[in-house]
Amino acid sequence: MRYLTALTLGLGAAMATALPAAKAGSADGASTFPSANGTRFTIDGQTAYFAGSNSYWIGFLTNNNDVDTVLDHISQSGLKILRVWGFNDVTRNPGSGTVWYQMLSSSGSQINTGANGLQRLDYVVKSAETRGVKLIVNFVNNWDDYGGMAAYVSAFGGSHETWYTNTRAQDQYRKYIAAVVGRYRNSSAIFAWELANEPRCKGCGTDVIYKWATDTSAYIRGLDPEHMITLGDEGFGLPGDTTYPYGTSEGVDFVKNLGIKDLDFGTFHMYPSSWGVSNSFGPGWIQNHAKACAAANKPCLLEEYGVGSDHCNVEKSWQQVSLALATGGMGGDLFWQWGDKLSNGQSANDGNTIYYGSSDGQCLITDHVKAIEAAEAAQ
Ligand SMILES: *[C@@H]1O[C@H](CO)[C@@H](O)[C@H](O)[C@H]1NC(C)=O
Ligand SMILES: *[C@@H]1O[C@H](CO)[C@@H](O)[C@H](O)[C@H]1NC(C)=O
Repeated sequence: MRYLTALTLGLGAAMATALPAAKAGSADGASTFPSANGTRFTIDGQTAYFAGSNSYWIGFLTNNNDVDTVLDHISQSGLKILRVWGFNDVTRNPGSGTVWYQMLSSSGSQINTGANGLQRLDYVVKSAETRGVKLIVNFVNNWDDYGGMAAYVSAFGGSHETWYTNTRAQDQYRKYIAAVVGRYRNSSAIFAWELANEPRCKGCGTDVIYKWATDTSAYIRGLDPEHMITLGDEGFGLPGDTTYPYGTSEGVDFVKNLGIKDLDFGTFHMYPSSWGVSNSFGPGWIQNHAKACAAANKPCLLEEYGVGSDHCNVEKSWQQVSLALATGGMGGDLFWQWGDKLSNGQSANDGNTIYYGSSDGQCLITDHVKAIEAAEAAQ
């Protein structure tokens, strides 16, 4: 989500191809990395429905103990997947006290592998490895937070909508992807590589994002044939209803993108109030994506979902609908967003945060994990 400014979402506002390779984590005995198995995920040999969460900030923490605390709590809760921001783009050096990963400039960009750079993400990956937590790592933000496509536009020109086809922007984006994938290619902590957070191309034909996603996913497959790859989109553009999210005005066609060979599973998000629909929109949104994923024989991941109030009742009902489709297209769900007590106080609260140890946490983490275990045992 576009963190802190969710309510502004929605209603306002060519490259070389890598060698084709086997499906990520294919069951050839060579890989124990997380994989897709039909419409379900397999993690560490277990094929099941998995729950998880999002933490955009964990890779920007400067205190290793805080990283360990969060990952301890996540693993002890029985959550298996954590989605983190794998980008932090700037256009000028903010100084050694601030974490940034990449500085974009027309006169030469820089990837920061220093102590206030990708070494912070290194620590997250290492800490997740020892705790069995699997990470989704994405490479650019649609939104301006932590730089995003706007930072590339500022350095290389064009517009947000031409970012997808801007050669200089895409060259640097690929250099950045290669740097991150190269660092963690062998890590058991990677669940999947993700092209972007919520890519949109407003008013564009859906072939713009389709082509960019096809070419970029093939490029990543060439760098790392073993880990899964996904798009990170909100899941816009599919049959089932006539409301705004089902349409393609943001340049996204969920069903078409799901057919891309090197994308191993589908992602979708859900913020009814930000999208101008009611909370009762939720079940149909989940069911229609599950149907598309079942038809494509790839898992669907409800990768972000949130509501500003009544977290437990509203989100629990969504979790139940998703879990009921555990063999009907849904592979798992990740609520937005993980909250915890850090050394400098509570982590960010954007109104959607579910704090570890809270009554919301009991409802949406503890009870949900129990429900998943019961459902899996009954299969
Ligand atoms: C895929 O799932 C099926 C059950 O749905 C299971 O029998 C099989 O072992 C799984 N394959 C892998 C590689 O985990
Ligand atoms: C990852 O594994 C490949 C193949 O086994 C190896 O060539 C490469 O050096 C490893 N990379 C790292 C960073 O360990």
